[in-house]
Amino acid sequence: MIARASKLFLPTLREDPADAEAVSHKLLVRGGFVRQLATGLWSFTPLGWRVQRRIEQIIREELDAFGAQEWLAPVLTPIELWETTGRAGIPELFRLQDRTGRRYILPLTHEETFAFHGRELRSYRELPQWWYHFQTKDRDEPRPRGGLLRVREFIMKDAYSFDRDAAGLEHSFRLHEQAYVRIFERCGLETYEVQAESGIMGGSGSMDFLAPSASGENTLVTCENGDFAADIEVASTVPRPPAFPERLDAPQEVETPGATTIDDLSKLLDVDPAATSKAMPVVKADGTLVLGLLRGDDRLEEMKMLAALGSDFRPATEDEIRAAFGADPGSLGPIGFDGEVIADNALREGQFVAGANRTGWHLLGVEAARDFEPRFADLRQSREGDSCPTCGGRLRFQVAIEVGHIFKLETTYSGPLEARFLDEDGTEKTVLMGSYGIGPGRVMAAIVEQHHDELGIRWPASVAPYDVHVVALAGADEIAERAAERLDAAGKAVLLDDRADARAGEKFADADLIGIPVRVTVGRKSLEDGAVDVRDRTTGEERRVAVEGL
Ligand SMILES: Nc1ncnc2c1ncn2[C@@H]1O[C@H](COP(=O)(O)OP(=O)(O)O)[C@@H](O)[C@H]1O
Ligand SMILES: [Mg+2]
Ligand SMILES: [Zn+2]
Repeated sequence: MIARASKLFLPTLREDPADAEAVSHKLLVRGGFVRQLATGLWSFTPLGWRVQRRIEQIIREELDAFGAQEWLAPVLTPIELWETTGRAGIPELFRLQDRTGRRYILPLTHEETFAFHGRELRSYRELPQWWYHFQTKDRDEPRPRGGLLRVREFIMKDAYSFDRDAAGLEHSFRLHEQAYVRIFERCGLETYEVQAESGIMGGSGSMDFLAPSASGENTLVTCENGDFAADIEVASTVPRPPAFPERLDAPQEVETPGATTIDDLSKLLDVDPAATSKAMPVVKADGTLVLGLLRGDDRLEEMKMLAALGSDFRPATEDEIRAAFGADPGSLGPIGFDGEVIADNALREGQFVAGANRTGWHLLGVEAARDFEPRFADLRQSREGDSCPTCGGRLRFQVAIEVGHIFKLETTYSGPLEARFLDEDGTEKTVLMGSYGIGPGRVMAAIVEQHHDELGIRWPASVAPYDVHVVALAGADEIAERAAERLDAAGKAVLLDDRADARAGEKFADADLIGIPVRVTVGRKSLEDGAVDVRDRTTGEERRVAVEGL
């Protein structure tokens, strides 16, 4: 097919949108791929929609390849389904009513809907099933950002697997995982598969696909030797060993007037900050105060604390602290505290300085297990200077975008929604589910983040809106038309810039901005030699090719 720029809606802009920070936001708007309707709500223009559909097609092909079946389930969803699984109260949920007062939600994702349909699976003979659809999701995101990166309405490809047992679920999970690897590869995206937090989804484990990009919201930790990749929220990496002072047989009180920070303390006592400990008193949702204990030079990773507590939490207030410890913040420690102490794994070995629960005093030589009985957990945030837990190698920290997320849901949804089947042994069992999501719009933005230069986008050929951009310069319309026809006959999708009112410079600037992989320039010289300039958008390489050779 040949699309003519003179007829298309191609609203390119020379200036970045004022509010844009992410490169993909700037370039997708300037290239005329998307337009904002309201905060977090974006329309895809014809050009942007072509890219979205190519990404969708890649996803579709890779899922169909292993036997997944495409559905379409409604957006409007009876709230009862979400009440059954306990998700009706999620703050991101849009709620609405019909004229008779029946209540609905706009789904964040479709687990409930597909678990509902999963009730029709009656026998083990029908399992496994792999179902997916491309459907709109609405999320009342508190902070939409970055153009297509975090929006309030988007199409997701969400897939659901149904299995009879754990081995089946594992197999279904692997099939989707392998398909995801191929999908991102075909989209030209560099991604890493990492252990992830399951958040509001529940289940027994999940993996994220992270695409490194300066505009991401995740931090990806990888080993220089390629044997470790994790999201910082769950990364368990190895901190540098502390320089411990001489060992003590029992904790020893030391006066530390005015030393309320680790920095003050380590200077005053002349000890390595890594040989001190830091108290983080927190209050769980049920009101219990728990003492979190970290190495002095570490920071708390909130997601890990959340997992360790199994509950939401907040920092304790000064009043709560004085009531529980009898001392001011800055002098708190585990000895003498009668609530639960959760200590980071880095405190397992060695003696640390700890608060004495007496304002202005600390204890030297405090040893876990000998002097207090903590529950150990991984609480610390992984950071620069840590080493790889697999090989000891150096770690790299990169900002990244989550482009895909796959979950082992187990019976989190099929349980409450009662999706059961009759197994071979004649007993009734609950179906085990998995769910698998990709946002093609976010993938599009991530591709732009990874493939651009100062002039514009450089689409990988697999997802480009057109295959070839034919630029007709003044006086060469006819031969340009011929070149376009030849390319069309060869099966290429052609964008022909036949605008009579645009100068050569404008046409080249638009071609660089829009980023179609191959540009064919037809000018007056072509009339003489019957040849055109074929330019690769990514490498900048240019060749003179006979029109008949296109
Ligand atoms: N607000 C959003 N805007 C654009 N795409 C999104 C958004 N939220 C999720 N996605 C896409 O859907 C996929 C699956 O989402 P999910 O893991 O349920 O989201 P989250 O981790 O944000 O809760 C994500 O990996 C991403 O590709
Ligand atoms: Mg996610
Ligand atoms: Zn390693």
